[in-house]
Amino acid sequence: MNAVSRLSNRDRYARCIRASKMVSWDIERDVIGGRTFDTAQKYLPDGLSLTPNFFTLSENEKRFVSQIQGRTYANVFGLVERFINAKVLEVSRDHWLGDQVALEALVRFSEEELKHQALFRRIDEMIGETLPPGYHFDVDPNVVASAVLGKSTWAVLALTLHIELFSQLHYRQSIAPDDQLSELFKSVFLYHWKEESQHAILDELEWVRHDATMTDSDRNKAVDEFIELVAAIDGILQAQAAADARYFKANCSRAVDETEAQSIEANFLEAYRWQYIHSGVRHPHFGEVLYSLISEDQRKRIHAALATLQ
Ligand SMILES: [Fe+2]
Ligand SMILES: [Fe+2]
Repeated sequence: MNAVSRLSNRDRYARCIRASKMVSWDIERDVIGGRTFDTAQKYLPDGLSLTPNFFTLSENEKRFVSQIQGRTYANVFGLVERFINAKVLEVSRDHWLGDQVALEALVRFSEEELKHQALFRRIDEMIGETLPPGYHFDVDPNVVASAVLGKSTWAVLALTLHIELFSQLHYRQSIAPDDQLSELFKSVFLYHWKEESQHAILDELEWVRHDATMTDSDRNKAVDEFIELVAAIDGILQAQAAADARYFKANCSRAVDETEAQSIEANFLEAYRWQYIHSGVRHPHFGEVLYSLISEDQRKRIHAALATLQ
């Protein structure tokens, strides 16, 4: 790395610190603001929930689906932010006795992810107060995090950049004109996005920095581990789509036959794959960074694996 790029990376870390200080927010004061959720509104926007695709459902039922997905959204973010934070703390070690600006940027990143987890726990609880009992999200964030952290840093940082980029795209979906969308949930997207913008820059800096220390054969193995991580996330999404479809069926106050139940579950899975896999891996900037680090053959392997998740 030459002096110019070192200087510009240093500047990027410094800019993240400045932006982080400028946008810093408080859960109760800024995001919740004394408001509650209202079941007359959608919790997730159509561009994420894909409720227009649930073609057998009435408008009220589609709204209920968006509310179930809103609760799952809070739980999925609570889950992924557990391993993201642990990995950020781990890579920060490389800066402990070195660049203190980079270290400060990562420490702030970590503190923000702890706050985001608290926000999403609060949102899960608040949504729970508005919906019928019986909702399940049975995945333990610590168990998932310890499995994820068993993979190489390269693979985990790849997954992390993909997550932080899709959370920005989710914010953009939430600002599409829709007067039925919960203002409180829109604030969740807005405030989360304000801090995730810095995280995505830091993920990229750390991923590229780490990549430069790797051998070709380590990277080749890490590409397979990234594919395994995406497949593991998909396994969680499949289980949750089934759980959420069952919960919908139990609480929609009408009979749902087996064929319709299967189609609802498939719709939930399609939405979750869009929210947590495809909106990230199809993000142009994710592709740009990823393809700058891997070979043509590795790129084909990733594409082939993703093509199975349709
Ligand atoms: Fe976050
Ligand atoms: Fe983040």
